[in-house]
Amino acid sequence: MRDATPGAIYLADYRAPDFLINRTELHFHLGEEETIVTSRLHLLRSCEVDGTPPLVLNGQDMELLQVSIDNEPLAPEAFEVNDDTLVIADVPEQCVLSCRTRIRPQDNTSLEGLYRSHSMYCTQCEAEGFRKITYYLDRPDVMSVFTVTIEADPDQFPVLLSNGNLFASTTLDNGLQQVTWHDPFPKPSYLFALVAGDLEHVEDTFTTAGGREVTLRIYVEPKDLGKCAHAMDSLKRSMRWDEEVFGREYDLDIFNVVAVDDFNMGAMENKSLNIFNTSCVLCDPDITTDQGYQRVESIVAHEYFHNWSGNRVTCRDWFQLSLKEGFTVFRDAEFSADMGSRTVKRVEDVSLLRTAQFTEDAGPMAHPVRPDSYIEINNFYTATVYEKGAEVVRMIHTLLGPERFRSGSDLYFQRHDGQAVTCEDFLCAMEDASGVDLTQFRRWYAQAGTPQLRVRDRYDADARTYTLEFSQSCPPTPGQPQKQPVVIPCAMGLLGDAGNLPLRLRGEPVDAETADNTHRVLIIDQPSQEFVFENVAERPVPSLLRGFSAPVRLDYPYSREALCQLMSRDDDGFVRWDSAQTLAVQVISEVQEQLATGQAASVDDMLLAACAQLLEDATLDPAMVAEMLTLPSENYLAELAGEGAADVEAIHAARRAVQQAIGRELAGPLLARYRELEVTGDYAPSGEQIAARSLRNLCLGYLAGADAQHLALAAGQFAAADNLTDRLAALRVLACHGSEADWQQPLSRFYSDWQHEALAVNHWLTTQAMMPDAGVIARVRELMQHPAFDLRNPNKVRSLVGGFAGHNPLNFHRADGEGYRLLREAVAELNGINPQIAARLLAPLTRWRYYRGRADLMRAELEKLAGMEDLSPDVYEVVTKSLQ
Ligand code: PHE
Ligand code: ZN
Repeated sequence: MRDATPGAIYLADYRAPDFLINRTELHFHLGEEETIVTSRLHLLRSCEVDGTPPLVLNGQDMELLQVSIDNEPLAPEAFEVNDDTLVIADVPEQCVLSCRTRIRPQDNTSLEGLYRSHSMYCTQCEAEGFRKITYYLDRPDVMSVFTVTIEADPDQFPVLLSNGNLFASTTLDNGLQQVTWHDPFPKPSYLFALVAGDLEHVEDTFTTAGGREVTLRIYVEPKDLGKCAHAMDSLKRSMRWDEEVFGREYDLDIFNVVAVDDFNMGAMENKSLNIFNTSCVLCDPDITTDQGYQRVESIVAHEYFHNWSGNRVTCRDWFQLSLKEGFTVFRDAEFSADMGSRTVKRVEDVSLLRTAQFTEDAGPMAHPVRPDSYIEINNFYTATVYEKGAEVVRMIHTLLGPERFRSGSDLYFQRHDGQAVTCEDFLCAMEDASGVDLTQFRRWYAQAGTPQLRVRDRYDADARTYTLEFSQSCPPTPGQPQKQPVVIPCAMGLLGDAGNLPLRLRGEPVDAETADNTHRVLIIDQPSQEFVFENVAERPVPSLLRGFSAPVRLDYPYSREALCQLMSRDDDGFVRWDSAQTLAVQVISEVQEQLATGQAASVDDMLLAACAQLLEDATLDPAMVAEMLTLPSENYLAELAGEGAADVEAIHAARRAVQQAIGRELAGPLLARYRELEVTGDYAPSGEQIAARSLRNLCLGYLAGADAQHLALAAGQFAAADNLTDRLAALRVLACHGSEADWQQPLSRFYSDWQHEALAVNHWLTTQAMMPDAGVIARVRELMQHPAFDLRNPNKVRSLVGGFAGHNPLNFHRADGEGYRLLREAVAELNGINPQIAARLLAPLTRWRYYRGRADLMRAELEKLAGMEDLSPDVYEVVTKSLQ
């Protein structure tokens, strides 16, 4: 049954388009006051349609000046202009339709369509922004060859870019510059891009495996010219990697990247003209953290990889979004794993999945990787479509193995090159190339919710058998009360006293027992299932879900001793980290109970000993030690508490007590590591330096969090730092653990030193938004009036308001509801400016079911939003679904 949601669009209603557009010619006249767009669409009625359906073009927020067919202007009664369509009843089977429209990009604050950012014009068309530029069949299954002519004042806009190759460039009699670009690859409108501005660029070249020399350019505002080297290197590494690992070569002679300061997302894969949020492309040691460098590398790769997984083969409709996004996130994660530490990358990704995606999957906006309905597609660029979608592709990789997966990928690209296809097409290619049946596996695309994998075990010493019993279940999600069992690949091993035990399942030949069979993947596809291992000499500790082989919640009753053994001795790095997390979760919740019953906090020595061991073992990768010593976040702990059970203050207090105990009890080793890990020499975003800084700054946090005396270390580090990573880490420690006298001066110092760098200032905003002191709400409100803040700039909104609501649970959930009010007011104002950002910002309020004693306050703010006039579809969808 379908719900009766007004304005909802359903996958089940998909119909192929009635018309095709073989060629699209666009002419832009970029003026001071207005931009005139003239289109010539070479239309063809689809041979699959009966009769003569009307032509319905999408279009929004523009003024139609003229419409003609085959150069004959249409009389007013021949067409109908509505809020978001242009309908022409009578259209020949084949014709050239031309529209002239007027738009005002300088007034476009939604940052969709053509808009102005500082002094440049740029576009963002995914998902449905093209319809704000001209009337069009704005859907991904209409693919067309674009020719784009741009006319503008050469003094203001010396650089004029669009997709494909530069075809012509002239100066017109009226002094305007005119350029024409032609993209030979048919593409949907969402991949169209245009940029005009006073930009400078860095240039490099890349020679493909096939010998094509590609010119690579990164365009930026002149002041940022020195910040492009890392992105350029990352681009060249991505191009090489995609050839080597996926056999994918670049297909044009030019590849352009443009950095834009006002951008809703991270970056966009427009054909041969990628547009990036400045925060995802510019790098400089003083404005970019180590994490930022790694993020730039992965996003540059992600957008580049879209050239095949997204552009050459695109999506049939927006329900298939994960076809390109899940696959491309999987590809960029593999790339990052190959460029640095595979385990650390995996740990970071799983951490993100568990905090962002599991919460989404357990909340009112839960949807399948392939959603079956939406009101506003912009609300579906989610952790589920991206990150869970990538996990689903990773499971296919695990089930098929690397060789057959590669054959499946080759077949997919070959079979569907130039087409707009579905997740089903991807699965068929994987099946056809591998012979593996993915029928049941398809449920991962259709069912929402995070499956739970319950595991219990028995050891029979006499029979020398060890039995693992698995059962799976999945909680109900909106519209899906009942779930079917999914296919869960569970990578595992068994840890014995002397190391990992050889594995032989009942029924397998004895001679299969070789030395290296200590790892295998069990396939769980039934509601419950048993596996019996034979010839097991001792009761083992099971090492389960190695590498996080499936996006599920694991439920096995680990003892703390077992967790410590896995932490220190398991073969799998991910399991070592995960065991540390589980141990910390157990200890924090024990402390939470102690505090709740009026006892003093007493932190289990086992945790302290395990931490000490990690700190003292010089053979371990410091990056991995830092991950293992990082306590689970308050948000994650709240999510684990479950609906109606999260007590923010109690969680904060317990976590803080454990943090302080570690800082106090291990002060000696923490200080020793802090000193020994100091990086000498120039800053470099190398794996080795990044690892050292991450552990060193973690040590600093523990030390200063436990003993105010160590705040001096932070102050010293802040003053001496020659890079943002160390400077910001020190500033955060002061802001988080110090008193006003400790942070007042450094905070103002940071601003006065870096106020000319928007990206550094954004970190300054976030640092203040995340402070635990009671004054933070007043401070955030003040900062919203600060000259460094601008509600129209998404990066600033995310840094300040998003940082507060998303990463300062203690104050966001303040008992007087002031945190909720702040967020609601910001969302209400943004609703009229940038609905996409407004809806995203709202996410923390949608989790009202979790917070004990807060649900009414949170709901009240959602209801205030629901009652607003002029609510955008974006905010409307999130608000109404969360209140259901
Ligand atoms: N397609 C972009 C990416 O994932 C994300 C994006 C979506 C950017 C919508 C802008 C608007 O690479
Ligand atoms: Zn993407």
